[in-house]
Amino acid sequence: MKRIRPFKFPACLLILLYGLFGCRISPKNPPTQGEDSGRILFGDYCAACHQTDGSGTVEGPPPLVDSDWVKGPESRIIRVVLHGVRGLIRVGEGSYNLEMPGFGAVLSDEAIASLLSYVRAQFGKSSPGIESQDVKRIRAATVDRTDYWTVDELLKIP
Ligand code: HEC
Repeated sequence: MKRIRPFKFPACLLILLYGLFGCRISPKNPPTQGEDSGRILFGDYCAACHQTDGSGTVEGPPPLVDSDWVKGPESRIIRVVLHGVRGLIRVGEGSYNLEMPGFGAVLSDEAIASLLSYVRAQFGKSSPGIESQDVKRIRAATVDRTDYWTVDELLKIP
């Protein structure tokens, strides 16, 4: 059975452009605190590509459910969200070779912590949450970074 892919890549790009420019002018940024904030932020910034249930699509973007990138060191997943990732990446049984843009310019430390805590709890077999202090520390350590990360670079980070 052919899977329906409601968001092909151009749609993702449009959503990204909205994320980059739209929310600067929009007064109603989603809340970054409270029980639902992670879920709402995930829906606004990630679900268009990774799907609301985190299952991704067959040809990519890859799934988040049960992904070692989601369950693994927070130092890597925080970098992925801050600056993006490109190139060959293995997730579960699948291999992908695409690009994900970064969100460091549009999402605060609190927002990233909140949405990643949701992602890890929901899709990462209840992996521990992420504190905004951790995002702050990694943002400061990578302040000169402008390019996407490659998988090789990320795998060298403990
Ligand atoms: C424009 C589409 C797009 C958006 C929006 C997006 N991603 Fe991604 N994401 C990708 C693609 C494509 C890859 C794989 C990149 C590659 O092939 O190297 C990826 C890879 C990942 C990975 C590592 C691989 C995996 O599946 O575990 C994680 C974790 C991740 N994204 C989390 C997020 C989170 C959290 C958000 C929301 C802040 C987000 N992504 C938003 C497209 C997107």
